[in-house]
Amino acid sequence: MLKMEKYGRNSYHTGKKEMEGQLSEQKALVDKLRKEQTLCDAELKQLLAVHEQPVLDYLYLNARQVQQLHYGNKVYVRGLIEFTNYCRNNCYYCGIRRENKNLQRYRLSDEQILSCAKEGYSLGFRTFVLQGGEDAAYTKEKLGNIIRQLKEQFPDCAVTLSFGEQDFETYQFWHDCGADRYLLRHETACQAHYRMLHPAEMSLSNRKNCLSQLKEIGYQTGSGFMIGSPGQTLDNLIEDLRYLKKLRPHMAGIGPFLPQHDTPFAKEAAGTLEMTLKLLAVLRLLFPKILLPATTALGSIHPKGREMGILAGANVIMPNLSPADVREKYMLYDHKAVTGDESAQNIKKLAVHIQETGYELCYERGDSLMTDTQSGDDNA
Ligand code: 5AD
Repeated sequence: MLKMEKYGRNSYHTGKKEMEGQLSEQKALVDKLRKEQTLCDAELKQLLAVHEQPVLDYLYLNARQVQQLHYGNKVYVRGLIEFTNYCRNNCYYCGIRRENKNLQRYRLSDEQILSCAKEGYSLGFRTFVLQGGEDAAYTKEKLGNIIRQLKEQFPDCAVTLSFGEQDFETYQFWHDCGADRYLLRHETACQAHYRMLHPAEMSLSNRKNCLSQLKEIGYQTGSGFMIGSPGQTLDNLIEDLRYLKKLRPHMAGIGPFLPQHDTPFAKEAAGTLEMTLKLLAVLRLLFPKILLPATTALGSIHPKGREMGILAGANVIMPNLSPADVREKYMLYDHKAVTGDESAQNIKKLAVHIQETGYELCYERGDSLMTDTQSGDDNA
């Protein structure tokens, strides 16, 4: 009533009309993105700035529909083996950075890695993701041997590596040993922002170079970035999306930045659930056939984060297969989910939760359907 008196009947109605006009304009952006698989920078920025729930729901609905068009109601599972938390790098955001002296470091032996995979295989996993900090103890030959043994013992499985920046020859060697896929997030595509997140000894051009090499060698390649990392702007996010349009990766991993108490970013604010879901949906519409995980970080900021991610267009989940006693030590950020649905041993429970969202866990290898992945899509 107070509102009516204050603004008068007419202006109240105009306000409502304006609001409806704005919502339909925003929904039209979603339609355009779905139809054309791109938007200009100003339109993308407008979409990423949306907070209105009806528009967000419409965005997620469209992303889901596109996902289902290509992948049906399947959500692929991958078993994640975090094999070392030693790292030569010193990224300001990351809990396993070189200078974190409070972290208990560990390395898994070849036998431990193989026995994680054996357990994963019996639980039904057909992709193993070997992820580690950049640890020189795993030489080209040593990791090559592990890859060969995995492929020998589990020939029907895909092996994914997530082991940072290496030289071309090493990437090529591991691919020759049988590695199928490689995950290397670019973290941010903007030079100035990259400098805010990484010490001087690291370089964005090297990272991008590694990604091009991985694709050239023939890996199914995944890139990605954190949402809400310190200093990140909407323009940075648009630069990330443009970079991905050029790279055309088979997979994209995104998750919210979460502070870790022993890093220089301990006191920085975390990324948000809403922004992460928005970006998942936008990525699905930009790259209809991409593999898009609902990441651990997403599951760590909200108990239903992964399910919400799937309902916003994600189609991969990567439960943890690492030995239980090391999981607490792979602490990239505080409050990382390591139990519950995050644990590979609880896959049956995860399957029920996924079913409740209307999807089915899928145990196939789940290769990317993106075949036309030539780089250099400048018009997009
Ligand atoms: N918050 C969220 N994600 C992080 N990563 C590293 N540190 C953090 C953090 N504090 C992400 C990086 C890296 C991946 C393995 O984990 O994007 O590529």
